[in-house]
Amino acid sequence: MSDSRARYLRLVEELGQHDRRYYVEMAPVVSDAAYDELYRTVKDIEAAHPDWIVAESPTQRVAPAPVSEFPKVVRDQPMLSLDNTYNREELSAFCDRVARGLDAPAAAFAVEPKIDGISVELSYRDGRFTLGATRGDGRVGENITANLRTLRSLPLLLSEAVTITVRGEVFMLKGDFGAMNAERAAAGEEIWKNPRNATGGSLKLLDARECARRPLQVLLYELVDGERFRARHSESLKWLRTLGLPVSPDVTIVTGTDALTGLVESWAEKRHSLPYEADGLVIKVDDFAERRVLGATAKFPRWAIAYKFPALRAETRLRGIEVNVGRTGAVTPVAMLDPVELSGTTVRRASLFNWDEVRRLDVRVGDLVVVEKAGEIIPQVIEVIVKARTGTEPPIEEPTACPSCASPLVRRSGEVVLRCQNRSCPEQRWKAIQFFCARGALNIEGIGEVLAEELVRKGLVTDPADIFDLTMERLTPEDDDAGAVRVERMARKSAENLIAAIARAREQATLSRLLIGLGIPHVGVVAARAIATRFGTLDALCDASAAARRENIAAIDGVGPVIADALTSYLSDETNVRLLGRLRERGVSPKEPAPRAAGAGPLAGKRVCVTGKLSHPRSEIQREIEEAGGQFVTSVGKNTDILVAGADVGKSKLDSARKLGTRVMDEDTLARLLSGDE
Ligand code: IVH
Repeated sequence: MSDSRARYLRLVEELGQHDRRYYVEMAPVVSDAAYDELYRTVKDIEAAHPDWIVAESPTQRVAPAPVSEFPKVVRDQPMLSLDNTYNREELSAFCDRVARGLDAPAAAFAVEPKIDGISVELSYRDGRFTLGATRGDGRVGENITANLRTLRSLPLLLSEAVTITVRGEVFMLKGDFGAMNAERAAAGEEIWKNPRNATGGSLKLLDARECARRPLQVLLYELVDGERFRARHSESLKWLRTLGLPVSPDVTIVTGTDALTGLVESWAEKRHSLPYEADGLVIKVDDFAERRVLGATAKFPRWAIAYKFPALRAETRLRGIEVNVGRTGAVTPVAMLDPVELSGTTVRRASLFNWDEVRRLDVRVGDLVVVEKAGEIIPQVIEVIVKARTGTEPPIEEPTACPSCASPLVRRSGEVVLRCQNRSCPEQRWKAIQFFCARGALNIEGIGEVLAEELVRKGLVTDPADIFDLTMERLTPEDDDAGAVRVERMARKSAENLIAAIARAREQATLSRLLIGLGIPHVGVVAARAIATRFGTLDALCDASAAARRENIAAIDGVGPVIADALTSYLSDETNVRLLGRLRERGVSPKEPAPRAAGAGPLAGKRVCVTGKLSHPRSEIQREIEEAGGQFVTSVGKNTDILVAGADVGKSKLDSARKLGTRVMDEDTLARLLSGDE
């Protein structure tokens, strides 16, 4: 092999290790810029020597063309599923069965969260990822290798040249799921009901390039035929970790029925602090030799069982339907409910998604319904208890006119969403204003739902540019009779704060935040940053010729044709051009700072974990931490520097963080730290 080919292979391996440090260990050792340079070098070498390219190269993660179907994978040994238990008694009956089967109590049990995603089986041959398949019916699964290769946390090359089969779960983080659904809703696309469906749908995409854009994660939980390699399951997981594979960090080993039931009960609260959905725990005999003695029935292994958490569901009565108009004109039904307690919060409203869903559920006013917290974020109506009907419940009619502006509603072809197409619709306007001012966008504190609605209703603001015309005089006029647009209850002090916040936004907003705030279809946080980095300033983006703009957009890594088209059509729409012009006239001329070099910012080099109930969505907090140079990690380990704890965090979690030397702070302290005040 030539020296330069050997160098190429070394660089590929090196990039793989950086991916592992970044995506699995969450502890990168090089800056993004250094990584990008290495990546570019590999790409250049591959362009010069296409025959050298190996499948393990990070440039080869995403297959360039769709497939027409997934080949089947037929297994000799079916992938078994697990029997379920629901309470302490059933759990101790399992322990008794194990003890009887072994003629002695089990040496130890491993207890792990049961991740609610899609199970997959992965094969590595001589250290190379060769096959990834779904479980299917257990015996026949689908070969989804191309889609699984797009998961950056899944190594294509292990640190040892071993041949192994491992099982695990592909899933979405609760925060990613929420953010993705928000983007889909804004773009008029169907939204996913829960992270599990979203994951299943993503893995079934025939185009790996599409799959690569979905925020999928994977954690492995079983080494198949583990006994060939290690004596115990827990040891096999440790080994998998040293091979570079992502393995669940939350595995505990306990001995004895009492310790087991105690541990299982301690998860009742802890489950909520996991960044992903867990629908239960999996309890496994740790010793492989003991597992062999116990064997399996036709359906389930006798050495493992699932303990299902009680569902986050409740029954209540549907009092009516509120018809909601979104900032893009989507008109959606919201269920108004008799208040009901659901895992610590009082639920009064629940999502019904769209009118097809209302029809599918055949839900009627007065019905007894089951509400569930999906992704533990938004409650939704999942079922109607038809038995409980009296027969007098009126059906719910799909509206034909917008509740805000009375325009006729339309359904665009291929969309499930009903839309108000009137761009001057007041509700669309104030929702757009609210979105523009939100924390993830221009971050103008003070303009929330209530004030946005009022500003639009009073005619003080019709589009985002008008915000920059607000003055003390307009917000709190001295003389009530003259003009009468005074904003209700707006005290002088709040008005002053608002004016200051607007001035700050004018000076400090970055281009990516502006792009997010404008609510361009398909342009979420990641795309906005990529676009903003490419163009640098709003002026450059607006003033580029159509051809130059198209060329620039096409050259942005990670921005595909859908986003490119959406942005191009946004920028060629007359109303939008006028809006951007009016923003610029009002002194809004955002720039995009160069991506922060490693080692800068108030949280530079710090690893930060966030847990518990917080006042802002986790995805926004993650973004702020990253913008401040910090690293967002999903669990507390000995290398975690800061734990940001929400109001409901248990004492044991805080104690263990303190023991590890992790600084614990509340959300306010984090905010002060981010703004450089601390
Ligand atoms: S072990 C034979 N461990 O739960 C044992 N399963 O029916 C195989 N799951 O389809 C399963 N987290 O997709 C195991 N830590 C975990 C798991 C887990 C989630 C899923 C898996 C399986 C289902 C059990």
